[in-house]
Amino acid sequence: MSTLLEQLDQLEQDALATLHNASTSEALQAWHTHYFGSKRTKGALEAMLGLLSSLDKAERPAFGKRANEVKQRLLEAFEARKAQVKEAELAAELASGQLDVTLPGRPPTMGRLHPTTLTHRRIIAIFKRMGFEVYRSPEVETDEMNFGLLNMPEHHPARDMWDTFYTTRSGVILRTHTSPGQIRVMREWGENGTRPLRVILPGMVYRYEQVTARSESQFTQIEGLVIGRNITMADLKGVFAEFARHMFGSAGQIRFRGSYFPFTEPSVEIDVYLGTDTPRARMLTKGTGWLEISGAGMVHPTVLRNGGYDPEEWSGFAFGMGPERQAMRVHGINDIRYFWQNDLRFLEQF
Ligand code: PHE
Repeated sequence: MSTLLEQLDQLEQDALATLHNASTSEALQAWHTHYFGSKRTKGALEAMLGLLSSLDKAERPAFGKRANEVKQRLLEAFEARKAQVKEAELAAELASGQLDVTLPGRPPTMGRLHPTTLTHRRIIAIFKRMGFEVYRSPEVETDEMNFGLLNMPEHHPARDMWDTFYTTRSGVILRTHTSPGQIRVMREWGENGTRPLRVILPGMVYRYEQVTARSESQFTQIEGLVIGRNITMADLKGVFAEFARHMFGSAGQIRFRGSYFPFTEPSVEIDVYLGTDTPRARMLTKGTGWLEISGAGMVHPTVLRNGGYDPEEWSGFAFGMGPERQAMRVHGINDIRYFWQNDLRFLEQF
């Protein structure tokens, strides 16, 4: 009898010790199965109770009572330990998923606008304030729009002013200037030659030229077109003086130099006077005081007619300028190839 009771004591001690060491839900479950059994297996405690029959009748009540105490004690200890482990596991789970808000953040990489885009936006904003609308015209053009309707029939020598990229489709080219947009906007927005126009046409143009520091095979232009009943050269001058004041902060002095374009008559090159007083003005004008900014002229009667306007009643001026050339001057960029090379070391400076 004493040995059996001693075994029971030992079982209790062992059980409590292993329970104390069980630190996970799995270990606890295994402990419970070991001592209290499962559907299929007999637990250690039950096994010991099975030995009851081997005791003297007189000893049985005492052993039974003790066995019940042990069972009670172990079950209580089990529940207490289970609660502890549950709590620890929850704490560990929370800690592992925790967000350390004191860690330094990863800076988002910010994109930036291309210097040409920036220049376009500035120029467009100035013209918008003067009531100009923006018209977008295609880069892939017909020969007819790019030359023919601009008063340069086939074999016209002036076509040589623009070295052209042809496509495999006959009569389809990459536009060499934004001027074909003049015809398109007159036809599309002119309401059969009855509506005055005040538009700018920005976009990419292409020239089949040797690429050098000074000339690229692609660059952008901003075309302007004003059509009305009494538009004169003075309007062209006034618009450019206003543009120069906003773009370059100049006093608005403008100079026309005679030039030639088949689609304007007369044709001019426009220079803005920036003076030589400041280092910036000297840099922009290469010391001459004058900055060349645009080709321009009064819209040729043939071009007006091709756009649907009666030249007896309507007149207009047009201009075409190169934003990259202006950006190069303003930012001191000495090689036009930087614009479309997409080298971030260049682009990130703007
Ligand atoms: N299209 C001309 C060029 O590319 C510029 C221009 C536009 C001149 C409008 C006069 C009027 O050289």
